[in-house]
Amino acid sequence: WSRTTTKSGGVLSVGGVPLPDLVREHGSPAYVLDEADFRARAVAFRDAFADFDVYYAGKAFLCTTVARWLADDGLSLDVCSGGELTVAERAGFPMARVGFHGNNKTLAELERAVELGVGRVIVDSFDEVERLAAVTTELGRTTGVMVRVTAGVEAHTHEYIATAHEDQKFGFSIASGDALEAVRRVHAAPGLRLLGLHSHIGSQIFDTSGFEVAARRVLALHAQVGTELGVAMPEMDLGGGFGIAYTTQDDPSEPEALAAGITAIVEHECRALGIARPRLSIEPGRAVVGPSMCTVYEVGTVKEVALDGGARRSYVSVDGGMSDNIRTALYDADYSATLASRASEAGPSLARVVGKHCEAGDIVVKDEFLPGDVRPGDLVAVPGTGAYCRSMASNYNHALRPPVIGVRDGKTFTVLRRETVADLLATDVGVQ
Ligand code: LLP
Repeated sequence: WSRTTTKSGGVLSVGGVPLPDLVREHGSPAYVLDEADFRARAVAFRDAFADFDVYYAGKAFLCTTVARWLADDGLSLDVCSGGELTVAERAGFPMARVGFHGNNKTLAELERAVELGVGRVIVDSFDEVERLAAVTTELGRTTGVMVRVTAGVEAHTHEYIATAHEDQKFGFSIASGDALEAVRRVHAAPGLRLLGLHSHIGSQIFDTSGFEVAARRVLALHAQVGTELGVAMPEMDLGGGFGIAYTTQDDPSEPEALAAGITAIVEHECRALGIARPRLSIEPGRAVVGPSMCTVYEVGTVKEVALDGGARRSYVSVDGGMSDNIRTALYDADYSATLASRASEAGPSLARVVGKHCEAGDIVVKDEFLPGDVRPGDLVAVPGTGAYCRSMASNYNHALRPPVIGVRDGKTFTVLRRETVADLLATDVGVQ
């Protein structure tokens, strides 16, 4: 839960706004964004990593309001598509503080990024190095470049969100020599200013040893570039991936502890290698926005089923589902839920919160104990839905994507409005 979340008389409030009031005003389902919590987390990363640049990873959740908060609070921004870049532009985000990622940026995206003057483009293939060099020549501009490398680390997280082992699509392999060759080509291209190496090992990681191994390998390459090419690269980025608590079983590190750990290993390695410490940056997404949002749903139906062995489980169907949170279905992610609209004297009973989609895997919360009298019309809230929920939301079954409602000091404000049927039909050009 975000830090301004409270429960009184069974009613959950965020930012001083009782969720039943929020739903009366804005409808259900809705993502509820706690402004104070979001900004406090962003600033905590900024301050803990005071001598780093902190790039918020927009893929976790991005809109113009959030981009403006980040700009005002002194953070930088990682975007990974032309769409995210456009949001940054619309928010008036300082382009020098934007990093542009992606393993297959289009020519048009690269041209736009160079024209806008983004601070760094993180290159991910030899094709892209060539394309970006051509773009800078054609536009008569230069751009800062970081080279995404694969450190060969097995991050302990879900296979689909681990990115530093060899057999996956991101980065230039350090082990194969491709990374050094990419650095050489960037250095040789007149329009490209070589800033440094970039490593991102995966997401929702708790075991910080993966970051340490990656930092060591990337620094070794950084030093090798110095000796073999005679180039002292000024920067290095160690990516994001810091895990958050989705359930009480998870135990994430605070930004201070992460900063201390990463700084210690980098300083130790730089001393051992006899090199100056490059300016470091990190890219947290989930750890900033994840806990600062929850999703509120209204219960529509409740059905009990018998389990093997005689136990029972109730299927609590809510008015959203995999279209607003695909993470349970896609990564087998764990979430929790609570009754948010009233007190209940009923004892806890095993429940599964499911959505309204035509698919048995449409599960929001796999297992939760909810009061045994949960019934239609109740509100249920799911915490920790700030990261990769709205940003991965879909219109499956022609669902309307829910709004993001900001809360601050007892007031609500719309950050992203609810989609309408007109939005859905806008792309359907009609019977041909
Ligand atoms: N930097 C780079 C280059 C990235 O690829 C990512 C995430 C981040 C930073 C931010 O990682 P974070 O701090 O948010 O973990 N959809 C998946 C997560 C995919 C992460 C993709 N890259 C999920 O819902 O778990």
